[in-house]
Order: sequence, then structure tokens, then C-alpha cells
Amino acid sequence: MSFDLSVFSNKNIILAVTGGIAAYKSAILVRRLKDYGFNVRVVMTKGAQAFITPLTFQALSGNPVHTELLDPEAEAGMGHIELARWADLILVAPASCDTIAKFAAGLADDLLSTVYLATKAQVWVAPAMNQQMWAAKPTQRNLNTLVEDGVHVILPESGSQACGDVGLGRMPEPEDLAEQVKDYFHQAQRAIAEKFGLLAGKRVVITAGPTREAIDPVRYISNHSTGKMGFAIAAACYSAGAKVTLLAGPVSLDTPNGVKRINVSSAIKMLDESLHQLEEGCDVFIATAAVADYRVAEVAEHKIKKAGDELNVSLIKNPDIVATIAKQEKRPFMVGFAAETRNVEEYAAGKLVAKKLDMIACNDVSRADIGFASDENAMIVFFAEQYQMEKRDLEKASKQEIAQQLVEAIHDALHNEIEPV
Ligand code: C5P
Repeated sequence: MSFDLSVFSNKNIILAVTGGIAAYKSAILVRRLKDYGFNVRVVMTKGAQAFITPLTFQALSGNPVHTELLDPEAEAGMGHIELARWADLILVAPASCDTIAKFAAGLADDLLSTVYLATKAQVWVAPAMNQQMWAAKPTQRNLNTLVEDGVHVILPESGSQACGDVGLGRMPEPEDLAEQVKDYFHQAQRAIAEKFGLLAGKRVVITAGPTREAIDPVRYISNHSTGKMGFAIAAACYSAGAKVTLLAGPVSLDTPNGVKRINVSSAIKMLDESLHQLEEGCDVFIATAAVADYRVAEVAEHKIKKAGDELNVSLIKNPDIVATIAKQEKRPFMVGFAAETRNVEEYAAGKLVAKKLDMIACNDVSRADIGFASDENAMIVFFAEQYQMEKRDLEKASKQEIAQQLVEAIHDALHNEIEPV
């Protein structure tokens, strides 16, 4: 599953490392958090520095490491109060018994315990210790206090320990911890989008990619569509709070995060699935697929053998998916696309009317720098007459940016429709 890394570039994580052999895993944890796009600052206790050096974390996080509370130089850079305010999440991993006890008691005798008291951010602790120390009553009592205080405790795993014991107390793998952090922010963002996003509460169905029309069991007719635009639109609709179903022709793209993908091959299959989705409920239907205009009249049951200098294959017209959906009684808001090589605006405006669409986005595929396989696009958007909206020029930009602008256009049209008199 793909993930848009830029989503987390404004999220700040303090990774607090305390004394314990699991501290070596925290170096990998910094890497994974950075891979997800987070800003990471590392705070280390004295105990942590006995296991791993600040320099390691400085190199991995790309930021100075914070170790001292009462160092005038460090305080002048980013003091404990600033650090506490900077963080969106404080992850203590590994969390030693000592740090857990300090947090529970409200002590403030080093940098980490002070930052803990001074922050409004979520605090997570990942305890790692000998199994007997984990089971000890004071540790359990302190952990209960932390939970009551709103701290999220990540339970340790069971297994063999550095001290030779076997039992509970191992810090989860750094990959798992980083994924939990990513999921936490992702869910928080999703909750906001579902409430306030431009397409909050809408169910969107998108067709994307080419269709593949079989000639015989091994050959087919298709086109060069990569599906990039449709996939970018699916991701943008999801980010805008919609529930998104993507009907994808054969393309080699990762499914955007949170999007339900249904793979289809032929135009007939894409139409069947589109009609089925309509029954399930659909508010907005976006047809980006480059549907093959024709399919083979009679698909050969067996591989056609080479014979003679000519081979005639008879083609028949495929149904127009977007126009068929637009004719249904309970029709959603319909968005079509037009790829033209000349008279772009004129042809697109014609299709808007002919296919009974609400909105059409058109581009000039004769331009080598945009369109089909390119990562960029430029479009002109027209709206049906009843919206009384001016056409919009979406200037050349990444397909992600164009997708975002299309979402805005859909949102504006949905809120601008003039009730027929
Ligand atoms: O007629 P043309 O292929 O140029 O129309 C393009 C628009 O119609 C696109 O939105 C495309 O996804 C849709 N379409 C369709 N079914 C077809 C042909 C086109 O949904 N058979």
C-alpha cells in the first residue's frame, strides 16, 4: 500500500531514549520515522548515553540531540519548554523503570522528566526491561498511574532477553513502533477529513486506467493509459474525507492509502462493476478510465494460429460507461474527462452535453509534457449550464496538485447547483 510521505512533514516527534539495551533499536526507529516524513528530535537520558552515543542520533535525525536540562548553551538553542511545545507526540522508547517511576511521581530532575511535565502532546511509553522488573509491583503501579494520566503504554513483547531471562519486557521492533505512530497520525487526519473535508461524507466511485479487450486467450487490444491521474484523484478524494472506490483497469500502480480498489479488465466488466457500485450508493462518479472504444466481436476460444498475410478481426462498439451511468434514474454528480489532440475545448464542451455530465476536465494529449504517462498535467474544466460556473484553467502542475484542484471544483459545483425551477 502506498503512502504519501508529505502528509507527515509538518508533524514533530520527540523520541526519548532512556537507559536500556533496547536503545540500539531506537536508532532504527529514528530511520523509520524519518522514512515516513516526520520531523524527529531525540532526547536522551544519562542512562541512554551509556548504551549509545548522541552522535548516532544526531546523524540519523538530522537534528542536534538534547541531553541536558541545566546547560545554558542547550537551553539557548531549544530549551525544555520549547521542546515540550514543539512536539506533536513524545515517544519514550525504550522506557526504563526509572523514567516510568519519575513520570508517575511527577519528578522533574532531568531534561526528559521536565519535558514530560511541560508538554500538551500525547505521550507514549514503550517499556523495555528485565521480565522480573516488568512484573514488579512498583513498576505495574507506576504504569497504572501513567495510564490514568493519559499516557499510552505500548506493551512489551515476550521473548528471550539480553540478561538471559525469558519473559515479558522486550521492546517491540522499531518498524512496528514507527507504523503505530504513522497510523495514529493518519487516523487523526482521517477523522478531521471525514468531518471537515471538502468531500466529507460523500461516496465517490472512480474509473481509472485502460481497459483490456481480449482477442483470444493470450492477446488483447488496449491503450497506453497508466491510470496515474485517476489514482491521484482517488487519493485526493480520500484526503478530502470521501469514501472512495477505485475501479482500476490493468495498471501497475499501488493502491492509494484508504481507497478500496476493484480490479477490472474489459469495458463490459468496468460497466457492470460501475452499475453495481451505483446500487451500493454513489454521490460522485469520476470517469478517468481510457475505455477502449471497441471490443472484439467474437473472442476466439483458443489461441489464433499464424496463417496467411492478413488477419481480420471484427470489432464492435463498447458501451459508454460514463454516459450509461449518467442516464440512470438516481444519478450521481458526473465527472468526465476528455483527452484531445485538437479543438480541445470545443470537443470537451460537446461531450459535456452529449454525455449529460455535470463537469468535464479536458487536456491536450498532443503536448508531450502532459497527459498519459507524464507525472504532470494541465486541464480546463467546464461545468454544466445549471451550475452557472465559469470554466477553470488548471495550469501545468503535478497530477497530485491537479487532482486537488479537481476536488475543489467538484466541491464548489456541489454547493453551487441551482435548483431547477
Ligand atoms: O468519448 P471519449 O472517450 O472521449 O470520452 C471520454 C470520457 O468518457 C472519459 O471520462 C471516459 O472515462 C469516458 N468513457 C466511458 N466509457 C467509454 C468511453 C469513454 O466512460 N466507453
